[in-house]
Amino acid sequence: MAPTFSTKSGDAAKAKTDALILSLSATTALPKAIDKAFGGQLTELLEARGFNGKAGEVAAFPTFGKLGVRTVVITGTGERSNEPGRWGEGLRRAYGAAIKRARDEGARTVAVATPEKAGSAEISAIVEGLSLALYSFTRYKSGTAAPKKQIETIEIWASDKKAAAAVTHGEQVAAGVALARDLVNTISNDKTPPQIADWAEQVAKNAGLQCRVLNQADLAAGGYNAILTVGKGSAAEPRLIEMIYEPKGKAQKTVALVGKTITFDSGGLDLKSADGMYSMKTDMGGGAAVLGAMHAIAALQPKVKVIGLMTAAENMPSGTAMRPSDVVTALNGKTFEIGNTDAEGRMVLADAVTHAARAGADEIIDLATLTGAKMVAIGSIAVGSFSNDQAFQERFLGAAAEAGERVWPFPMWDEYKDGLKSEIADLKSTGGRGGGAITAALFIGEFVEGKPWVHLDIAGNAASDTEGPYSPKGATGVMVRSLLNYVESAT
Ligand code: BES
Ligand code: MN
Ligand code: ZN
Repeated sequence: MAPTFSTKSGDAAKAKTDALILSLSATTALPKAIDKAFGGQLTELLEARGFNGKAGEVAAFPTFGKLGVRTVVITGTGERSNEPGRWGEGLRRAYGAAIKRARDEGARTVAVATPEKAGSAEISAIVEGLSLALYSFTRYKSGTAAPKKQIETIEIWASDKKAAAAVTHGEQVAAGVALARDLVNTISNDKTPPQIADWAEQVAKNAGLQCRVLNQADLAAGGYNAILTVGKGSAAEPRLIEMIYEPKGKAQKTVALVGKTITFDSGGLDLKSADGMYSMKTDMGGGAAVLGAMHAIAALQPKVKVIGLMTAAENMPSGTAMRPSDVVTALNGKTFEIGNTDAEGRMVLADAVTHAARAGADEIIDLATLTGAKMVAIGSIAVGSFSNDQAFQERFLGAAAEAGERVWPFPMWDEYKDGLKSEIADLKSTGGRGGGAITAALFIGEFVEGKPWVHLDIAGNAASDTEGPYSPKGATGVMVRSLLNYVESAT
């Protein structure tokens, strides 16, 4: 259960909770009231321990009745950086690490002191860090008893007048990220395309979003052959899920968010290796980010219209599966030859971006766990960005940086297109040797009908086998924050 947040103003040293969290950097000293309560001994203790406010440092101290709280948790933020978004990200990490420590110390109620002069963006980032650090996924653990150590309430002590709104903002963002994590962590047996469509419909209904699901017959009638072809090998039918958020006033523009939603990627007839296949329940991380973002967008109420699309299909080998060398006519009429059945993501996206363009999108952002080549190129720290519109890409990269997520642009020069030539059709779905993340992106770009478009390759980013300060092992919910910041700052 997510903890309940509240806002308090005044000096957090007066808090009467189980634990108090406060942050320090190398240049900030302990708040006077706290130092005084300990007669200077806490400052001495910190010095003795060599604690100097570096990022990653966390220390907990019992108060033995000297304060209204039983435990003080002190967390290092590192130095304030001027690079956009890095200070906020430092806060997310510092407060995320601290709340886990408070929980491990047995606290159920926590007061959080925010840094002096923290504004709305910083308070939101702190709440995101606190909330996301406590995320856990227990659906498949038997025994329903609540964990013994669990944070129930968090008081945010802040002087900013807009603190309460910022706390709510942070909670709404975190809820979107948590939903994306839940979707990715769920096993493929419980998120077949029809099941994921039901899940999206439920989310849309609760959030007040319009939702329309195209089933197999609808897709066939509409000419969505690329999506249908990917779904052919599975016992579960594919679905194209469309959600729409309309702002209250007149929308200045329409942004489409398109998520690759391969509910399991076995590779198809070009079957993956056992090692390569194991993690492929996460191959819907793009769609999960879209649904998580749409859920939060309904609450955040940005000024732009947003269309959310999820291309739910399962890539399986069977007697009805697509074959390498088959030719498909996509929704926009272009034909392509299937170079490899494991290159299924770009196929479902081809039809989905065309759908987005025809649905009136002024800008299209697609997100996909698309290529191993992207991971070879830049690993799992950054997300890869690819675009046909420099100015649009710059705006998106700016929003992502502010949200504290690492995104890095790749070149999209025409010369790379040579690899996508086919002897028999307009295009081939796979490129030649090298530059596989770029040729995959260029393939998708053939179907955007000339609209400004950014493609985000999140291969290696959607799930992690290591724990982060505010992210347990497993699904990360990557890009939800960037998408939200983009649509919130778009006018
Ligand atoms: N879903 C995979 C890409 C992937 C691999 C994501 C590992 C996350 C972790 C994608 O569908 C795929 O199989 N891509 C192939 C394309 C190739 C056949 C052209 C790849 O990258 O190997
Ligand atoms: Mn694949
Ligand atoms: Zn895939």
